[in-house]
Amino acid sequence: MHAHRAALLHCLADPREVGIEHSYQYFEDGLLLVEDGKIAQIGDAASLLPILPAGVKMTEHRDALIVPGFVDTHIHYPQVDVIASYGTQLLEWLETYTFPAEARFADPEHARAQARFFLAELLRNGTTTALVFATVHPQSVDAFFAEASRLDLRMIAGKVLMDRNAPDDLRDDAASGYDESKTLIERWHGKGRLHYAVTPRFAPTSTPEQLELAGRLLREYPGLYLHTHLSENRAEIEWVKELFPERQHYLDVYDHHRLLGARSVFAHGIHLCDDECRRLGASGSAVAFCPTSNLFLGSGLFDLARLEGHGVRVGLGTDVGGGTSFSQLQSLNEAYKVLQLQGQQLDPFKALYLATLGGARALYLDEHIGNLQPGKDADFVVLDYKATPLLARRLEQARSLKEKLFALMILGDDRAVKETFAAGRSVHRRDRPQP
Ligand code: GUN
Ligand code: ZN
Repeated sequence: MHAHRAALLHCLADPREVGIEHSYQYFEDGLLLVEDGKIAQIGDAASLLPILPAGVKMTEHRDALIVPGFVDTHIHYPQVDVIASYGTQLLEWLETYTFPAEARFADPEHARAQARFFLAELLRNGTTTALVFATVHPQSVDAFFAEASRLDLRMIAGKVLMDRNAPDDLRDDAASGYDESKTLIERWHGKGRLHYAVTPRFAPTSTPEQLELAGRLLREYPGLYLHTHLSENRAEIEWVKELFPERQHYLDVYDHHRLLGARSVFAHGIHLCDDECRRLGASGSAVAFCPTSNLFLGSGLFDLARLEGHGVRVGLGTDVGGGTSFSQLQSLNEAYKVLQLQGQQLDPFKALYLATLGGARALYLDEHIGNLQPGKDADFVVLDYKATPLLARRLEQARSLKEKLFALMILGDDRAVKETFAAGRSVHRRDRPQP
């Protein structure tokens, strides 16, 4: 057993459902007990210290706040080298920067090196679970899961399905995409903390036959995810209309092929009609809100209140490399501004919820992750109140937890992440040299 002493903060429920005051738990001087990779107990140090079993190792984290590991509900591991590419919107950005970068993943050595860098970067930013796009190459999925498995992370990923409107070296066909996905599902899904996501890139790059087979996979194996993009960019939406004239709207393409439901996650969902919002909510599907990407690619403003009003599960995504930061603190910074522009205020506790328990609920993983309740995976982050001179100065003047949390999400990034734990093990420490 290992004890961590610090201020502890985690969410218990959606503030929308229970009110802000009842949505979180905070221990100013707290103790977090970890055993066998799980959280054993959490509480005030004053009450837990006297009853600690003998021989428990104790780590004291000073000037620090422990929060649950962040959950990223939409990111592309093959796009690390695409981040910060200039001057284009979605469709041109895909052709110019993204497809060439993804073609390099035919080489398993390249995939392995990229997976290693990517996961280290996620952990440096305090993200312990992510829903991840690989590329069309099965070896890209093998490389990713092998590395995630080595670190014992809870990760979800899948091979991209893309059988039209893409370069020759990035296309599968309906049958090969189905067969290769099947092999990968049998190899990885449910192994340790890994889960598989059936991953048609988006409607324009799959034929109806491929979408139909994606739906078949979902029905053949329990607990699979469906991960794709939806209604991100105006030109993309027009293209979907041309390619699928018989469908009512963008979401109807996916719905027609029975791709909606629990564990279906749609990235972006910016320009949706009421019927699309309704169907997302009624089916238990989730939408990934990706503010840094939506601003960077000029896609539009995500309407959180509207989606939540339709009962849609919403998680937070970085969408690297369309997104500009691996940091979920930075995603929250941008989310705050996106909502400001629409007259919505993102309360800091709601923000923490979106980055942790809300993401876990969007992924139907809240039984395992998302907060620090005993029995859950011991995935947590130690945030440093003194990470930068400015942060230290601003936090010294904060009079409430809410104010502190807000300053952390506006000013914080990877520098604020002192240490990251996954299944109770330290998987990143800021001052530990990288291997
Ligand atoms: N739509 C289809 N592919 C992509 C992608 O790689 N990134 C983003 N942001 N949107 C997409
Ligand atoms: Zn994306």
